[in-house]
Amino acid sequence: MVVAENLSKIYKIGQVEYLALRELDVTFYDEEFAAVVGPSGSGKSTLLHIIGGLDKPTSGRVFVEGADLSLLSSDELAEYRNKKIGFIFQFFNLIQYLTAIENVELPMTINGIDSEKRRSKAMKVLEMFGLSDKASKKPTELSGGERQRVAIARALVNDPDLILGDEPTGNIDSQSARVVVEAFRKLVDEQGVSVIMVTHNLELTKFCDRIIKLRDGKLENIKVTAK
Ligand SMILES: Nc1ncnc2c1ncn2[C@@H]1O[C@H](COP(=O)(O)OP(=O)(O)O)[C@@H](O)[C@H]1O
Ligand SMILES: [Mg+2]
Repeated sequence: MVVAENLSKIYKIGQVEYLALRELDVTFYDEEFAAVVGPSGSGKSTLLHIIGGLDKPTSGRVFVEGADLSLLSSDELAEYRNKKIGFIFQFFNLIQYLTAIENVELPMTINGIDSEKRRSKAMKVLEMFGLSDKASKKPTELSGGERQRVAIARALVNDPDLILGDEPTGNIDSQSARVVVEAFRKLVDEQGVSVIMVTHNLELTKFCDRIIKLRDGKLENIKVTAK
């Protein structure tokens, strides 16, 4: 469970302050596929980055499985990011000079897993996304949808408990977007993973359990979807 408590984030540029989050309280449950929606600038990315330990709030706390992220040392925070969280961003962030499988292996390299195990695990996850025949291709040789599936395979390869997607389907065709969202749904239902996905695509929120709507850094409403 992820509990954000009284979360505020102020970005300061020179004399100007931007309030990205304003005393936000929100809870995400285990084995839940949650969508985060809201207008551009409403604080969706900021919230995701703070939950993922990529950024710190100005005030307030985030508890993950009861542990207060603000009390973790930088080593513990790095371990949290590497082992518990799978990040997926809108712009795939694949490394251009590595092949698809090498990109997928990267998080395991960081976690010190040996090369044989890395290769077989990476291949398994690529297969899951119908990409076994693309393993040795470079990102430039893949379509947008394929690249994003590689990025998702990479985010899943360390078996994260929590997947954070910041508009993961924002830049791909609708068919690939569906493949991605259905894969998330399956991971939640069959493997007990939790997913928090920022999206602008209301069609895709049909696959989610709850829709959390932000406005001006605050919670506007929460909808439980009928399934
Ligand atoms: N690094 C930053 N520096 C200054 N302002 C920022 C920064 N990141 C986000 N903001 C501001 O914070 C607000 C929320 O941004 P963001 O979390 O990216 O919203 P969303 O993802 O919903 O579009 C916006 O007004 C944005 O301009
Ligand atoms: Mg954003």
